[in-house]
Amino acid sequence: MATHKLFLLPGDGIGPEVMGEVRRVIQWFQDKGVASFELDEGLVGGAAYDAHGESISDADMEKAMAADAIIFGAVGGPKWDTVPYDQRPEAGLLRLRKDLALYANLRPAIVYPALADASSLKKELVEGLDILILRELTGGVYFGEPKEITELGNGQKRAVDTQVYESYEIDRISRVAFELARTRNNAVCSMEKRNVMKSGVLWNEIVTQTHKDGFEDVDLSHMLADAGAMQLVRTPKQFDVILTDNLFGDILSDVAAMLTGSLGMLPSASLGAADEKTGLRKALYEPVHGSAPDIAGQGLANPIAMIASFAMCLRYSFGMGEWAGKIETAIAATLDKGLRTGDIMQDGMKQVGTVEMGDAILAELDAVA
Ligand code: IPM
Ligand code: MG
Repeated sequence: MATHKLFLLPGDGIGPEVMGEVRRVIQWFQDKGVASFELDEGLVGGAAYDAHGESISDADMEKAMAADAIIFGAVGGPKWDTVPYDQRPEAGLLRLRKDLALYANLRPAIVYPALADASSLKKELVEGLDILILRELTGGVYFGEPKEITELGNGQKRAVDTQVYESYEIDRISRVAFELARTRNNAVCSMEKRNVMKSGVLWNEIVTQTHKDGFEDVDLSHMLADAGAMQLVRTPKQFDVILTDNLFGDILSDVAAMLTGSLGMLPSASLGAADEKTGLRKALYEPVHGSAPDIAGQGLANPIAMIASFAMCLRYSFGMGEWAGKIETAIAATLDKGLRTGDIMQDGMKQVGTVEMGDAILAELDAVA
């Protein structure tokens, strides 16, 4: 049995707590002899800053580079609000994304049947929802230069961020979108702001061009990102794959997360290009939610997004889609039994903490394995 090298980066806030539950799922796979993992752990975000004054060390970056997959918790918190911008906790995550060239960020928003009532939208709008936000992750305004604040000398300051995309970046993420759509409901809706942004004009043009280059069997539509946001809360089930840039993807995926009931439910996978020789992709798996400092350290956090992120790791890095499905079934069954963490608590359900939720998911996994 091949041994998969996992590099765990729990990070800050609830990161270590939800990572604890993933460790138990990993142990479950080892104990059952289903898969073999070699684990290493590093520091990222505020935790790394406290230890060595930067949001991720070069040594941990090297380990991340060498791993088959990275499992990432969350970063940030008020404690580090005043650290220098370049060392802020989020910088560690952005460095991982950029240096590992993890350009394709898959954020599936699935409404588990038991949670259709937990959404802030009417049940009939979200029941059975299964959409995928595909966010470009290494370009756009997150990384464009110049990015600076300058003193104008007259008591005023000027801040600049640069939204920049080259055609190859749009082309490669479009290909991922079309390929993923073929495995789902075969529809891609591309979102940009071509009415006010040149990068939107190019985005629209390249997506259209790539579509013609061998993907015409996939149904392609375009929406302005603001209208797309509106449609996402109006009739979310009209979408299959939403293809969008780094900034719009950040925003739209938070919206999509709430459709499912809670930010605590959404997993994600960030993938690089396949290696020409080995076919392997660099990959990082992380929940969409943040470090939730308000509930950190209390055993209250919802571990589902983190555990579902590990399921995505099995599916996309290790060809274990069937086992990923079993984890997802175990999560659904746990919710069906009425167990809820605080973020998805509903009348008549049983409120549990992080570890109890993990216990229940493992018990269901035993049942479906
Ligand atoms: C996300 C987060 C990050 C982002 C932050 C933590 C830098 O919001 O992954 O959605 O903006 O990309
Ligand atoms: Mg975000």
